[in-house]
Amino acid sequence: MSIEIPSGLTELLQGYTVEVLRQRPPDLLEFAVQYFTRLRENRLQDGAGRPHTRGVNFDGEQPMQIESNGDDEENNDDEDDDSDFEPPIINRYSRRVSVCAEAFNPDEEDDDTEPRVVHPKTDEQRCRLQESCKDILIFKNLDQEQLSQVLDAMFERRVQPQEHVIDQGDDGDNFYVIERGQYDIFVSKDGQSCRVGAYDNHGSFGELALMYNTPRAATIVATSEGALWGLDRVTFRRIILKNNAKKRKRFEAFVESVPILKSLELSERMKIVDVIGEKIYKDGDRIIEQGDKADCFYIVESGEVKIMMKSKTKTAQESNQEVELTRCKRGQYFGELALVTNKPRAASAYAVDDVKCLVMDVQAFERLLGSCKDIMKRNITHYEEQLVALFGSSMDLRDPGK
Ligand code: CMP
Ligand code: CMP
Repeated sequence: MSIEIPSGLTELLQGYTVEVLRQRPPDLLEFAVQYFTRLRENRLQDGAGRPHTRGVNFDGEQPMQIESNGDDEENNDDEDDDSDFEPPIINRYSRRVSVCAEAFNPDEEDDDTEPRVVHPKTDEQRCRLQESCKDILIFKNLDQEQLSQVLDAMFERRVQPQEHVIDQGDDGDNFYVIERGQYDIFVSKDGQSCRVGAYDNHGSFGELALMYNTPRAATIVATSEGALWGLDRVTFRRIILKNNAKKRKRFEAFVESVPILKSLELSERMKIVDVIGEKIYKDGDRIIEQGDKADCFYIVESGEVKIMMKSKTKTAQESNQEVELTRCKRGQYFGELALVTNKPRAASAYAVDDVKCLVMDVQAFERLLGSCKDIMKRNITHYEEQLVALFGSSMDLRDPGK
């Protein structure tokens, strides 16, 4: 059933519910009379026109609909818990104020009676949204129904140059998928803010605070005009976290068997599983193209991947011929070189028969595999020797800055 909920209704009832849960009054009706009277008094004092609705509609353009399965009570864990009875002065764009360290229990959170968030979209918006989301790794393992609930719940947000989309230390409200625009990533440590990376017209961010109930781990600043698609925290947790619990069960044993990940703690390996996506390729599909800009790291889950390099002999170069360098099998990785050297892809990678790979984006690679990078860098000498053996000379595979 899809019902259009009047703007502000959910927030109004949510505020009341939160106060009931906080105060546990003996008489709910009496308490409701007091609560709503105080709310009305506040509104009168505050000026007639001010809307007393809380931030349900973050894009500020279209009314949000909530698909109800019967129970219209939203998650109440959004609320600050440090004051006595105070009808909330509600701000549409307010940030979450505090979050307790909730542990995630997928069975508890998979509450089908929870209202579903739906932001209506035009066909044109839906097309743009689908295009932006098609390579988002944490959406990769969702089933059709989950993905369509996620897409329904997403809303458009335009940003201007220098706008802070996320500030480190804040509580997490939304997850964002980039439709377009460039964004810098800053991480502050010991009072020093350091630019640790950037997003260039694709990717996603803002999952960590929502997944782990932690403050925002980085600041994201638009460096151009841009367009984002947001997904609210409640929908994110309901769908993505449930799926992550499944992913952990499914990939835990495999990830533990991957040699390069053996040195990591179990919790670090599980964080990897949370952000990876599984990609499937058919025989002959090109997974990586030599010369391309790199944005992902791959671990072979099944099948075989052939690494090919354009030959360096003149005649072969003219015919664009490729030479096979090596093959990667289950548990082996590829696509790390360009990420550790900041250079374009040194070779191409093709699926041999059907292939499944676990894929991690460059930001997660930087964040989670820092300690493995040294081992990976040691490969460079081995790669160079291989190229000398094949072509008589090596390409310059090393980071120009090193
Ligand atoms: P979150 O902590 O919710 O908000 C900031 C986001 O920045 C974070 O989720 C990640 O999605 C993203 N991010 C990108 N690079 C980093 C990094 N090196 N450390 C922390 N967060 C990062
Ligand atoms: P990257 O350059 O990101 O993309 C192509 C990948 O091929 C590369 O990372 C390595 O993971 C892999 N590869 C395997 N053998 C070689 C080699 N001899 N030289 C360069 N890359 C190689």
